[in-house]
Amino acid sequence: MNEVILEARGLKKHFKVKSSFLSPPSLVKAVDGVSLEVHRGETFAIVGESGCGKSTLARLLMHLLSPTEGKVFFEGVDVVQRSGEDLTSLRKDVQFVFQDPFSSLNPRMTVGKLVGEPLEVHRQDLSAAERGEKVKQLLEQVGLQGDHANRYPHEFSGGQRQRIGIARALASGPKLIIGDEPVSALDVSVQAQIVNLLSDLRDELSLTFIVIAHDLSIIRHMSDRVAVMYLGQIVEMGPAEEVFSNPRHPYTIALLSAVPEPKVGQQKPLVPLMGETPGPSASIPGCQFNNRCRFARDICRQSPPKHSVFGEQGQHKVACHFEQGASNQTKHNSLSGANTRSPQVETRFQLYQAALHGKKAVPKHPNAIEQEELT
Ligand SMILES: Nc1ncnc2c1ncn2[C@@H]1O[C@H](COP(=O)(O)OP(=O)(O)O)[C@@H](O)[C@H]1O
Ligand code: SF4
Ligand SMILES: [Mg+2]
Repeated sequence: MNEVILEARGLKKHFKVKSSFLSPPSLVKAVDGVSLEVHRGETFAIVGESGCGKSTLARLLMHLLSPTEGKVFFEGVDVVQRSGEDLTSLRKDVQFVFQDPFSSLNPRMTVGKLVGEPLEVHRQDLSAAERGEKVKQLLEQVGLQGDHANRYPHEFSGGQRQRIGIARALASGPKLIIGDEPVSALDVSVQAQIVNLLSDLRDELSLTFIVIAHDLSIIRHMSDRVAVMYLGQIVEMGPAEEVFSNPRHPYTIALLSAVPEPKVGQQKPLVPLMGETPGPSASIPGCQFNNRCRFARDICRQSPPKHSVFGEQGQHKVACHFEQGASNQTKHNSLSGANTRSPQVETRFQLYQAALHGKKAVPKHPNAIEQEELT
């Protein structure tokens, strides 16, 4: 599963925006130096609060936007250099599933036409009758009925419309599907069905998925690896099980503490973030998270942290000055079960919480506290 299908290197997208006619333009660093690798056959999740740059990153990865800086390689070929036939073949291989299935489907087209459209572009070898047959097959593959092809999108529920969106994405026979918040607009009861459908399709069709979400509970059970984004940068990335069980970056810890636990009594203490997310054009020196981090020190305001690597194969990366890839990393990561926290991480959570209630000052980074508490 470790063959790289998609790679981003130092990807940046900066927008110049003007808030009023007279004001000078300010710079929104929507994506600001993202490097990642997506492996063939995996589900790679990108999570973070609204406005952190997830959709912009997705558009860069598909070459729907040109980067300000950096490169994207799909199957080893630079996507920015693609044009003409090369670009058409990229569009065939990489497809998108949108957040809002209603606005992404043309209401004047029948479902048959909507799902058949990509076939007209990418499968010109098929006759009209064969295309009709293929559309039926695709609809059945996503849990709809073949005769739904004659209906219009408004005749379907939200979940069914998302199934139509998925059938449309599958039509070209893609290798990679990018889902930008594919279930966020759906009722909670329907979300699980669509998540299950995506997981089944991935296995059946040997697809690779990039799933974007602001809600961690959704991607927890469907992703192999996860990248956590904050203000255009990846602050933590690694195997999903490890990031969920042993989060290291203070931002990830705060995000995860807000995820409801299915079992009574297992809820983690809530770790609220300090302050507000800075405005999109705010310029923050040093670590982008420093004005919301309880552990910020002078160094955090002076220089941006580099990614440190953890885990047996160095797959777990964390951008924090106080996560230095400790030599006892494997002990730190020891897990007794997929959803169980290590005692160290549990202690860290408890300390965050105690501090928030004024029981203990939090002058130090959790690792430092942890050492004191555990020895
Ligand atoms: N075309 C654009 N012009 C100016 N700013 C943009 C544009 N697209 C996105 N942004 C800004 O970039 C930031 C990231 O946006 P986006 O990628 O949509 O975040 P997310 O998907 O995580 O909610 C936001 O501050 C947004 O306002
Ligand atoms: S401790 Fe410093 S480097 Fe680490 S997340 Fe907080 S502000 Fe950033
Ligand atoms: Mg978005």
